[in-house]
Amino acid sequence: MSANFRVALKKVVDHSYDIEIGETLFKLLIEDLKRGIVENVSKFAIVTDSKVEALYGQALLEQLSQNGFHAELFSFPAGEKSKTRETKAQLEDQLLSRSYGRDCCIIAIGGGAVTDLAGFLAGTFGRGVPSLNYATTLLGAADVSIGGKTGVNTPVATNLIGVFHQPKKVYIDLVT
Ligand SMILES: NC(=O)c1ccc[n+]([C@@H]2O[C@H](COP(=O)([O-])OP(=O)(O)OC[C@H]3O[C@@H](n4cnc5c(N)ncnc54)[C@H](O)[C@@H]3O)[C@@H](O)[C@H]2O)c1
Repeated sequence: MSANFRVALKKVVDHSYDIEIGETLFKLLIEDLKRGIVENVSKFAIVTDSKVEALYGQALLEQLSQNGFHAELFSFPAGEKSKTRETKAQLEDQLLSRSYGRDCCIIAIGGGAVTDLAGFLAGTFGRGVPSLNYATTLLGAADVSIGGKTGVNTPVATNLIGVFHQPKKVYIDLVT
C-alpha cells in the first residue's frame, strides 16, 4: 500500500528591479524607502566593510536616522579575505543579538566583497529578507551588484557557496 500526493509548486515571479545611476544617491534611496520600495520593514541593517564604513556607511546611517528610519551599521574588515562563511556567521549573530528578524532590510554598501557577502546574508537571514545594493567600486557597479549572484569563498573554492537573491534596487553612485 502506498499513497502519492503531488506538491504543486509552479510559480510565476517578477523580480524586476531598477538600477539608478547618478551622483550622491542617498537622498534618492531615502525617498525610495519613504515611497515603500521595501514593504513591511521596521529595521535597516547597513552592511559594509571597514573602509567604506568611514567613507560612506556612517553618512548613510546618519541620513537614514535623521529621516526617522531605524538603522544600524554592521561592518567587517575590508578585503577579499573577509568574504567567508565565518564573517557571514558573525554578521548573523550580530543581527540576532540586536533583535533583527524577518522585518529587516539589508542595505549593502561597498564593493563586490560587500555586495556578495551581504546579498548572501540577505538571501538566508529569516529565510530571505529584502536587500538594496549601493555600489562603491567600478567592479561593484559594472558587475557584482547586478544579477543577484551572491556568495562567499572557502579555502578551496571561490564564490561556490551562495544563493541567487535579487536586490530590490541597485544604486550606482558616480561620485564614489
Ligand atoms: N556576484 C558576482 O556576480 C560577481 C562578479 C564579479 C566579481 N565578484 C566579486 O567581487 C569581488 C571584488 O569586488 P571589488 O573589486 O569591488 O572588491 P572589494 O569589495 O574588496 O573592494 C576593494 C577595496 O576597495 C575598497 N573600496 C570600496 N569602495 C571604495 C571607494 N569608493 N573608495 C575607496 N576604496 C573603496 C574596499 O574597502 C576594499 O578594500 C570579489 O569577491 C569577486 O569574487 C562577484
